[in-house]
Amino acid sequence: MLLMRGIDMEQLKIPEHVAIILDGNGRWAKAHNLPRKMGHAEGCKTVERTVEDAARLGIKYLTVYGFSTENWKRSEEEVGALMQLFRYYMKRLLKIAKANNVRVKMIGERNRFAADIVEGINRLESETKDNTGLTFVIAVNYGSRDEICRAVKKITTDVKSGKLNPEDITESMISSYLDTAQIPDPDLLIRTSGEIRLSNYLLWQCAYTEIYITDIYWPDFNKHELIKAIENYNKRDRRFGGRTNN
Ligand code: IPE
Ligand code: IPE
Ligand code: MG
Repeated sequence: MLLMRGIDMEQLKIPEHVAIILDGNGRWAKAHNLPRKMGHAEGCKTVERTVEDAARLGIKYLTVYGFSTENWKRSEEEVGALMQLFRYYMKRLLKIAKANNVRVKMIGERNRFAADIVEGINRLESETKDNTGLTFVIAVNYGSRDEICRAVKKITTDVKSGKLNPEDITESMISSYLDTAQIPDPDLLIRTSGEIRLSNYLLWQCAYTEIYITDIYWPDFNKHELIKAIENYNKRDRRFGGRTNN
């Protein structure tokens, strides 16, 4: 029996896809009397650690919400600091991904970013595309409604050009037009820092996802907290609208 802080790791069913809304960087900074950007910098370190932890635990897909379509509303200073961190961590992530057999994928509308960031994103994806371990998905300039809107535009274009028949539109076909095409729906969604809302994250994909909220601020999140969330997920009775097994 492999015990970790009282949790029997061998008995734990590891969810295939874990999605995270990392929240609380600003509150963490405030609690430590630091500027908000320091909270974001700490948050980036937590993302790096979580990628490695997820890969070691055998999670197949990890999707984190890095920057929402609504986050542009923040001050120029904060958005600028986030972009700088993004530039720096993209380079580090390439090394981490290569060392851990991680495939990186970005979802969201990347073309709103500066050209060098777009180039960095493309490079991260192309240089890790053949890795067979964890798929690490980063949602940047991502908003679920924006994603659905873009998918509807593509679908209607294909209907107009005759490539697609309206009768052939199915749920799985709609899924294949979303940024998350080829990625299974999340089994577990974790949100840090206590807020109980989706904030425009994976609305279509989370139709039957189990939700776990922790009060911990994202910079304080760690492997033990991840295992606690998975342990809690193991107690859930996933019914998908059918009958309970109990
Ligand atoms: C999450 O932390 C990171 C991003 C949304 C980019 P916040 O910046 O939202 O932190 P709080 O919610 O203000 O504490
Ligand atoms: C959600 O967090 C977006 C990201 C984690 C990138 P927010 O802090 O932006 O969400 P709200 O404003 O509290 O809903
Ligand atoms: Mg927040």
